[in-house]
Amino acid sequence: MYASLISIGAYVPNEIRTNQWFADRMDTTDEWITKRTGISTRRISKKDELASDMGAEASRLAISRANMTIDDIDMIICATISPDYYCMPSTACVIADKLGRKNIMAMDISAACTGFVYALSVARAFIESGTKQNVLIVGSEKATQLMDYDDRTICPLFGDGAGAAVISATDDKTDAIVDINCSSDGGLQELLLTPGIGSGEKQYMQMKGNETFKVAVRTLTNDVKMILAKNNLTTKDIDHFVPHQANYRILKAVGENLGFDDSQKVITVHKYGNTSSASIPMAINDIYESGRLKQGDTLLLDAFGGGLTWGSAVLNFAGKTIDK
Ligand code: ACO
Repeated sequence: MYASLISIGAYVPNEIRTNQWFADRMDTTDEWITKRTGISTRRISKKDELASDMGAEASRLAISRANMTIDDIDMIICATISPDYYCMPSTACVIADKLGRKNIMAMDISAACTGFVYALSVARAFIESGTKQNVLIVGSEKATQLMDYDDRTICPLFGDGAGAAVISATDDKTDAIVDINCSSDGGLQELLLTPGIGSGEKQYMQMKGNETFKVAVRTLTNDVKMILAKNNLTTKDIDHFVPHQANYRILKAVGENLGFDDSQKVITVHKYGNTSSASIPMAINDIYESGRLKQGDTLLLDAFGGGLTWGSAVLNFAGKTIDK
């Protein structure tokens, strides 16, 4: 039995926040943000719009595109660092409720921006072991609630949104997830962290941006080299390289290190900013909805985030090509 990604969906909040919004409120400029990050806009969720709301919207789309109903799903995994509740219930449980599903295994994963790749890995293991048939995986972030709007070094970087995918059992190897590698180094935890919960500045995300930048470029590059070599693949075998969307300069450096050409790279950071665990499924959804992602195409996912965590995956897209 193999696991395959059979559908993708995303949800993007309506409100668009420009760089000028930040320039009007703090000591920064549109030019600085654009030049250093590649970000022009990001989406902002409504005050009462939670990670579970955005995750449920993305899930509805992914489930319908899989030609399923919520009753066909037998497990829900949500990756998030901006959950509805701090400790419990999990955002996955709330999503299950919003989708009208009871009696289902549902849990969250905390792996920051690598969360979607971690969720994919867990879903694959449950399916390949024969334990589950159809797993809904979600990356959903109300990341802007973690921002300190007095800290210009981090608050322009993040945006809100969600992505979801249905991972299903198949006996067709051509549809299968080829390989996934997930890893971490807790020794580098101080590069990127949210020190406390509750009130005060400790609830906000803190990042040593410049150091994180260098580790990100190195780790994302090595991770891809390893997974390609392990599977006797080269960059030429990849149709779409989908890196975590943190900073355009990181994506450019990693893309150049690996020799991907522009037609292979998937870039959405300019319009959505960094949406943490939602960034990869939102980016896959972008190329799906534009008709660029076709059934059978090979995707290479490459993520990096707080923990530190990182992960990569090679998979063949088993969803139906969208009619354009
Ligand atoms: N506007 C104007 N100036 C600024 C701003 C701003 N918004 N932010 C920082 N600066 C200043 C700094 O104060 C510093 O000034 P100084 O030289 O007087 O001290 C100067 O700009 C340079 O700062 P750096 O931090 O060195 O700038 P850098 O080019 O590294 O860009 C950035 C910062 C955008 C944060 C970059 O380092 C980055 O993207 N890092 C990696 C992000 C990442 O990959 N995160 C991991 C995933 S996120 C997750 O897991 C949740």
